Formats: sequence, C-alpha cells, structure tokens
Amino acid sequence: MKYEELLYKLNKIGIALSKERNYEVLLEKILTEARSFTRAEGGSLYIREGQELLFLVSQNDKLPENKGLRGLRIPLSSNSIAGYVGMTGELINIEDVYKLPEGTPYKINLSFDQENNYRTHSMLLVPLQESGDQPIGVLALINAKNIAGEATSFDPRYEPLVHSLASQAAVALRNAQLHGELKDAYLDTIFRLSRAAECRDMDTANHLERISLYSTILAEEMGMSPKFVENIRYASPMHDVGKLGVPDSILLKPGKLTDEEFNEMKNHTIFGAKILSDACSEIITISEEIALTHHERFNGKGYPNGISGEDIPLSGRIVALADVFDALASKRCYKDAWSIENVVAHIKKESGQHFDPKVVEAFENCLERILKVREEYSIHKAQSI
Ligand code: C2E
Ligand code: SIN
Ligand code: SIN
Ligand code: FE
Repeated sequence: MKYEELLYKLNKIGIALSKERNYEVLLEKILTEARSFTRAEGGSLYIREGQELLFLVSQNDKLPENKGLRGLRIPLSSNSIAGYVGMTGELINIEDVYKLPEGTPYKINLSFDQENNYRTHSMLLVPLQESGDQPIGVLALINAKNIAGEATSFDPRYEPLVHSLASQAAVALRNAQLHGELKDAYLDTIFRLSRAAECRDMDTANHLERISLYSTILAEEMGMSPKFVENIRYASPMHDVGKLGVPDSILLKPGKLTDEEFNEMKNHTIFGAKILSDACSEIITISEEIALTHHERFNGKGYPNGISGEDIPLSGRIVALADVFDALASKRCYKDAWSIENVVAHIKKESGQHFDPKVVEAFENCLERILKVREEYSIHKAQSI
C-alpha cells in the first residue's frame, strides 16, 4: 500500500473508533484494525490499572479459539516487554523476540507462547497514549507478514502511523469509559429518584432492580433488538415515579383502598408521564411511555386510557407483567406475598385478559431465569439499603 493510502485508511479507522461507545467492542476493533493495518498474525491489548497492565483482548489467526490470557496482570516493569512499554511509553519494534540483543533494557515474558504452543517472532509494541500523558494501555502486534503471507518484520514506516492509531484509540477508549461512567451515574440517579417515590415499608431498591431485570429478560426472550432490551432495562425502573404525587395516606394505607382512593392512585400513571415528558433522551421518552401504559390491560379494561392490544406499547405490555409478577410475589403494605405457584397460575389465567399472550408465553419460557433474579434480589439480601 502507498503511504497516502495508509494515511487515508488510518484516518478512516480513527473516525470509526471515535464512534464506538461500547468498551468491549471498541477493544476488539482497535486490535482488529491495527492488525489489518500492519498485517500482523496476532496481537494483544493491555489496559493499565494502577501499576499493572491487565491483559484484555487477544487475537490470532493461527489460534482462532484462543482466549489468550484474559485477566492476567503484568506489573509495569522491565520484566516484560509490554510492562516496559507501559512504564516508559516507548514504541518498540523487534525482529525476533527470542534473539534480543545484549543490553536490552527489558526481558521477554514467554507465557503466551508456552500456553498456546506458539512461536512469536517479530513484535511491534505501541503505548496507547494521548500525547504527553502516561500510557493508558499497550497494543502488542505479533508476527508481521508480507503480502505473500510470509513472515517478516514490522516495516519501520508503520511506526508513526501505528503510534497515531494508538493515540486515537486511547482517546476513543477514554470516551467509551466516560460514557460507561455516565451511564452508571445515570442509572444510579434513576434508582435513587424512583426509590423516593415508593412505599417506605417496601424493599424498594430490590423491587426496582427486579422490575428492570424481569423486563429485560422478557424482552430478550421475545427476541427484541439489543437496543430495545437496553432501553427497557434502563427505562422500566421509573414506571411508578408518579407515586410521588400520591399522598402517604393512600400510598401507605395498610388495608384496601376505597374507590375514591383508588381513583387517585390511578393518577400515578398520568402524573409519572408528565414528570417524564418532553425529554431529549430516548430512555426517558420510553420511561414516559411505560409510566403512562403499565396499568393498561390487553383486553382494554385497564387505566388510564383503556387502550387495548397492540395499541399499548410493547414496553408497557412487558412492564405490566413484570410489575404484577413482582407485586404478587412480594409482600406489600396492603397484602401478603403469594406463593410462586399461585402467581404463575394467575399470570397464565390472565393471558389475553390483563396480559399480552406473547408476553405470557415469553414469561413461561424464561420462568427459571426470572425466579433466579427473584432469589438473588430478595429482601433478605437488601441489608445495605
Ligand atoms: P403495586 O402494589 O405495585 O401493584 C401493582 C399491580 O399488581 C396492581 O395494579 C395489580 O394489578 C397487581 N396486584 C397487586 N396486588 C394484587 C392482588 O392482591 N391481587 C391481584 N389480583 N393483583 C394485584 P393496581 O391494582 O392498578 O394497583 C396499582 C397500585 O395501587 C399498587 O401498586 C399499589 O401501590 C396501589 N394499590 C392497589 N390496591 C391497593 C390496596 O388495596 N391498598 C393499598 N394501600 N394500595 C393499593
Ligand atoms: C409499589 O408498588 O411500588 C409500592 C406500593 C405499595 O406497596 O403499596
Ligand atoms: C418485597 O418486594 O417486598 C420483598 C419480597 C421479595 O424479596 O421478593
Ligand atoms: Fe404502577
């Protein structure tokens, strides 16, 4: 490839990396692109954690099934080449790692070759580094090939280009990390705010986790897209925020509600949708939809609008089942917990009435996973809240 073509390709890779928000996918992409760019048979990616490098991704055309040494930790030191690059930020291009010249400031760590019965010859190691900063990781490319597929060494012309690729990768990784942290902070906020809306005597944090996980499992079981599954996971915990607008005298009433009280209770759907309306975020918009429709019934006898069938958004139909399952299987201030047999019988009986038959079918097919979540997020394990 001509140098101009390489530059052009490098630029395209940089743009593609900057768009990837999923950290794991990004790690794989960086390695794939760097390998194809340099025609490397294999490669590994290490991310720095404190004074260690964590071995995260490994790819090798000769060892397609190899899981590498994922999880292995290497100290930042001259006892390994990667550790040395992580420590110093130097780029290292070696023709044959088994023939390191006298006086080389680092040692080679042969555990990868030994575990995989592999022979590493040439290596190109590049720090993942934004200019001037301490490396956030190390990219190691193994066994260069020429166009004919024969072993060769890494062309020194590649060095500045791979260096540039690595610094773009570092920026993209930092952005993906920030994105992940923002998401965690967002979720944490959602759970905290939703808790404020819930009945005080209830195992609320676990209740919200369970609704979120039940809805996620049901959506997965129904074959929905990963995007939909993720949206419902994050949006469903807010289904009852409208209870913030319901007075304690009703929300905490130990016994049965009067018709008037129940009518007021029903407004939690409309009130919740109002709180969540006009958001720019897709997730909040879906939570608005869920808040409004999670008490609609498939047969049209629900509230607040009495819509039926597929006029009820799928997210609302899914959360309706998740919510009732959890309400029945749990103790509430106004009722005891039912046995699981009775809960399951009730849900089956309500197929086509309260619930969408397709959601009920999915529920029956994934009951085992749902019961596992229920076990894991039970009141007994909620001591920290
Ligand atoms: P929730 O406690 O989270 O219950 C959610 C839904 O689960 C209920 O929606 C209902 O469809 C189902 N569910 C809960 N308990 C039972 C039950 O014992 N039998 C049957 N067949 N289904 C049950 P629903 O009825 O629209 O109620 C919405 C919310 O209104 C409830 O949320 C709860 O906060 C409140 N609520 C409903 N009934 C009473 C009551 O008698 N006393 C009090 N204090 N609150 C009530
Ligand atoms: C809830 O539905 O989240 C709690 C309401 C209750 O226990 O009455
Ligand atoms: C609850 O939601 O009140 C706790 C019951 C349970 O752990 O399932
Ligand atoms: Fe509700």
